[in-house]
Amino acid sequence: MVKIVVLSGVPSSFREALRNINVGTVVPTSKVFPDGEQYLRIEGVGCERCIVVASLYPNQDSKLVELYLALDALKGLGVPSIDLAILYQAYGRQDKRFLKGEPVSASVLYQLLSRYCDKIVVVDSHSKQALEYLGKNVVNIVPHGYMVKKLGLKVDFVLAPDKGAIERARCLANELGVGFDNLEKFRDRVTGEISVKEKQLDVKGLRVAIVDDIVSTGGTLAKAVEQLYRAGASKVIAIITHALLVGKAVEKLDSVGIDALVTANTIERNVKPRWLTEVDISELVLNQLLR
Ligand code: R5P
Repeated sequence: MVKIVVLSGVPSSFREALRNINVGTVVPTSKVFPDGEQYLRIEGVGCERCIVVASLYPNQDSKLVELYLALDALKGLGVPSIDLAILYQAYGRQDKRFLKGEPVSASVLYQLLSRYCDKIVVVDSHSKQALEYLGKNVVNIVPHGYMVKKLGLKVDFVLAPDKGAIERARCLANELGVGFDNLEKFRDRVTGEISVKEKQLDVKGLRVAIVDDIVSTGGTLAKAVEQLYRAGASKVIAIITHALLVGKAVEKLDSVGIDALVTANTIERNVKPRWLTEVDISELVLNQLLR
């Protein structure tokens, strides 16, 4: 017997998918104390194996606290085995000390998880380092190829908008049997401002997919879209796992004329621009956990 414990950040389309499978789900009861602290209680779980499903966005800090409280509650109930699915791994981008005096946030926040969990499945962790902090028995699901195939998209070339996305681009390009390249991005670590080196791209008349893990403010993606149109691409589709689209991201991407943004249902988002398509990847996640 397995029970799935669904935490508050899990997006509605993922919850819907959970309802359609033949497994019992449990939603913890929760409240916030007058001083702002969280309280949580899990009922309806006996001595069966549990799978916790969490997405740590938005309100990352409170979602992390909720996750740890839920894991400890399950330990206290004596469940024999806990597996965890993290649909969006917050703080994954601070995976090292970029500037002197900074913490390694991903290490601090995730290294305790392996004390509670037997297996962790994460969707497109930002980097190898961010993944390592989750422990040893970890599966990283990178859904770009799955999303492209599910939508039947036609792609002639793949582009990584920065060096960090090269492996993602290589994997998708190999899966599709097309070529790939990457841009070089520089981020001012103090102001956050980004610049992208101009590069000669051989994409005239091609349908190009830009591949990345996260689109947040849209700055990285907008710069890549602009370069591709300048180089003569006929269509630019972004295939990005986690579309946070914060601040003026939608306006920014509108203004550079993005054709489509394909993303996974790893977070709940309020903005749904006309060019955004969300693909349900619950099958990929659950296949790893319910084998
Ligand atoms: C960073 O390296 C990530 O892979 C993304 O490229 C980045 O988070 C995107 O951020 P933004 O949309 O704010 O440019």
